[in-house]
Amino acid sequence: MTDVRVAQVGLGKWGQNLVRNLDVLGRLTWLCEASDERREAFAQRFPNARTTASYEELLADPELEAVVLATPVPTHHALAKQALEAGKHVFVEKPPAMRAAEMEELVALSEERGLVLMPGHLLLYHPGVRKLKELVDSGDLGDVLCIYGNRQNLGTIRKDENALWSLGVHDVSVILHLADEEPSEVWARGNAFLTPGVEDVVFCFMRFPSGKIAHLHLSWLDPHKMRKLTVVGRDKMAVFDDMEMERKITIYEKWPEQPMQSFGEWQTRTGDILSPKIASDEPLRLELSHFMRLVRQGWTGQEARDGLAVVRVLERLQNSLVS
Ligand SMILES: NC(=O)c1ccc[n+]([C@@H]2O[C@H](COP(=O)([O-])OP(=O)(O)OC[C@H]3O[C@@H](n4cnc5c(N)ncnc54)[C@H](O)[C@@H]3O)[C@@H](O)[C@H]2O)c1
Repeated sequence: MTDVRVAQVGLGKWGQNLVRNLDVLGRLTWLCEASDERREAFAQRFPNARTTASYEELLADPELEAVVLATPVPTHHALAKQALEAGKHVFVEKPPAMRAAEMEELVALSEERGLVLMPGHLLLYHPGVRKLKELVDSGDLGDVLCIYGNRQNLGTIRKDENALWSLGVHDVSVILHLADEEPSEVWARGNAFLTPGVEDVVFCFMRFPSGKIAHLHLSWLDPHKMRKLTVVGRDKMAVFDDMEMERKITIYEKWPEQPMQSFGEWQTRTGDILSPKIASDEPLRLELSHFMRLVRQGWTGQEARDGLAVVRVLERLQNSLVS
């Protein structure tokens, strides 16, 4: 446990997971929630933290060092800005803003004030995604040609943000992390079947300057619960499947080649199918530990700049979705 004095803002479905971890990792000093009922329930569970419905009240506490925001997405930018202006380090759930210009403003503010701004891109702290990154960076898969993500389920049906911003944010953060470049071409297509203006099903395409391409299927109207990312390399292929309990990563030794004797014909080769051991540490615990470390040990701003790239790509996809 660090001694970082931290406040949790928003105690909804996801906020309760954050607060459970913050209670172990830092010194949970404030709980802020708009609903009286939820606030009271949490006050009983965490008697050492002060509770309030007023965000301003906790920001006025000079002892408070950091805030963790898990309120609805459209509130993120304004609440994060207010916290940075009050001199607090900020962890803000994904996505921190819904427009690149707003995210740029947050990044500039955090740099100017020397405060941590960390977006909650949970998957980047997942041991399975870390393994995938290691496989890509070491060249083990060969040149990466194609990446595609499946993030489908029946529900949770959101009303504030569409499937791109709610679900696609996870895949975009991982794909940019793996690719180490921003796409030169993007398009998205989808439809709002349930709530006007809020797309429930979205398909995205991205082409990168290096030539690799990526695709996403995002939906909360689907019979399959899928949380999968497939990376097709020239030499090997790897799959991260977060629905698997044990085989989070599978490496397929499958590749195409043109043997001399085939006179230019492509042939496919197959070898072993391997599943390396992946640590079962809770990604949220790892993510929040990282935040605490940044607060205590200083930071370079990398997490915020990576978060800006994610918002930039989501905004471009969104513009193509409605055009
Ligand atoms: N990283 C992940 O895997 C993951 C998963 C689910 C949700 N999330 C993110 O977490 C955030 C919250 O999602 P959720 O599903 O918990 O939503 P939710 O609606 O269940 O919870 C939001 C809570 O915030 C409270 N709230 C709203 N405005 C407030 C304010 N100004 N001050 C104090 N409290 C306020 C609401 O009363 C509600 O209890 C979203 O940004 C979402 O994208 C992240």
